[in-house]
Amino acid sequence: MYGRVLVHHKGHASARKFFNSYTAPSYDFVVRTTTFGRDAAWKSQILAEIRTRKKVLDLACGTGILAAMVDAGSRGRVTGLDLTFEYLQMARRKMPLACVQATAEAIPYRDGTFDAVISSYLAKYVDLRALAGECWRVLAPGGIAVFHDFTCPENPAMHGLWRLYFAILRVAGELARSSWKGVFCDLDRVICESHWTGALQEALQERGFAGIKCKRYTLGTTGMVVAKKP
Ligand SMILES: C[S@@+](CC[C@H](N)C(=O)[O-])C[C@H]1O[C@@H](n2cnc3c(N)ncnc32)[C@H](O)[C@@H]1O
Repeated sequence: MYGRVLVHHKGHASARKFFNSYTAPSYDFVVRTTTFGRDAAWKSQILAEIRTRKKVLDLACGTGILAAMVDAGSRGRVTGLDLTFEYLQMARRKMPLACVQATAEAIPYRDGTFDAVISSYLAKYVDLRALAGECWRVLAPGGIAVFHDFTCPENPAMHGLWRLYFAILRVAGELARSSWKGVFCDLDRVICESHWTGALQEALQERGFAGIKCKRYTLGTTGMVVAKKP
């Protein structure tokens, strides 16, 4: 049975504020430039985890950057899911992606449909227990879940530099009257308040996932959590 989980989480408000028809057209450019090109490298780490998996669900696929990488690697069939219609439209312009507008906390697919569930920049916006439950449900036995997102750097010096970087982004966003200025204002706070790596590992363990591991990248500014359904 699917579509049972209906939750309200503070991350939903941020997601609805950040992702809309104003930010969708420039999303690919903004993510590439603001991460200094590291976005592609982080996404390659996700692909390395799913290797030969054939039926892949990209949760919060956005404009389809990650889904296109899965497709290009001929790793199998990829399905995209996202909350925001305008982002899905951008993804469909890139590739004939099978996609659905839905929340990751109520995935509209039957139990055991996929052998890999992946996501990039979703974890800080969702109820992580609901996410873990839905990933468990739609994964077939032996399936793998890979979650990547920004993290708050723990090293004090790095943390200071990271905050400074966001302060610069905020000024640049204001001066350029960018559609992204609201995102640049709030994103560092949303990241630091989410504590998603620890909370997600706990939720995955509670749900019964095994082989859970967490890696940090680029001086602690992003992280990846991987888990397997036995
Ligand atoms: C920063 S974008 C990331 C897009 C893509 N994964 C990437 O790596 O480029 C975040 C995406 O998460 C989606 N999103 C946020 N909360 C969501 C939720 N609860 N369920 C599904 N999608 C969600 C937004 O609509 C947006 O497209």
